[in-house]
Amino acid sequence: MPVIKSDRMTHEDEHAHSRTARSARGDDDAHALTPAKTLNSTRELPEAINRCKRCELWRSATQGVPGEGKSPSGLMLVGEAPGDSEDLKGHPFVGPAGAMLDRALEQAGLDRKSVYVTNAVKHFKFEPRGKRRLHVKPSAEEIQACNWWLEEELRLVAPKLVIALGATAARALLGRVVTIAQTRGEAIPLSDTMHLWVTIHPSFLLRIPEEDRKRAEYERFVKELTAAHHFVTHGTTHVK
Ligand code: URA
Repeated sequence: MPVIKSDRMTHEDEHAHSRTARSARGDDDAHALTPAKTLNSTRELPEAINRCKRCELWRSATQGVPGEGKSPSGLMLVGEAPGDSEDLKGHPFVGPAGAMLDRALEQAGLDRKSVYVTNAVKHFKFEPRGKRRLHVKPSAEEIQACNWWLEEELRLVAPKLVIALGATAARALLGRVVTIAQTRGEAIPLSDTMHLWVTIHPSFLLRIPEEDRKRAEYERFVKELTAAHHFVTHGTTHVK
């Protein structure tokens, strides 16, 4: 059960860090390429993200993939970046990892429509291999550039609990590299009203070859989602 431990940068550290990082990268110029306004609703995200040129990923992607679901919502799930299916369809988690996530959410008593689901990075990054497009992990710079959108989503969705699905999402939300093993099972404050839990990415489950281990990992994931459900609805992780 996640327990509270504050090992995130303070807000002051963070703002100083992102100001420094921004001016070092000349990000103020990048704002000129981005819809430089503060959004009023998550409904404005698709168009705004589609016009985003804060990094180079927009060049080869089909489209930007914004988060979607309930907003505001008590629970926000953050993945890494859109994959091939998401890039083509324009929606997050609609491929094989999404099917795994949907199954786990349903078993945890959560309707996908009642939560907000997004990614740390909003454009697909890939390497062409013949007719296939192989997923490539976004770089630190791409994660940082896309934080603009993740921060907008956090502000608009105002979740009580954010679940980072995998290490890339955790890195985006914490502003530093962490491992899942280090952070899983902790409730890390992101603000006075928001906590972060870090867990596995659903695609990890798809890659486990041994059936027993796969089942055990899946069950652990469902337990975490069930505890998350209780946390946002009852303010406790106690599950009867
Ligand atoms: N993996 C992710 O991290 N996000 C998606 O939307 C799909 C697969």
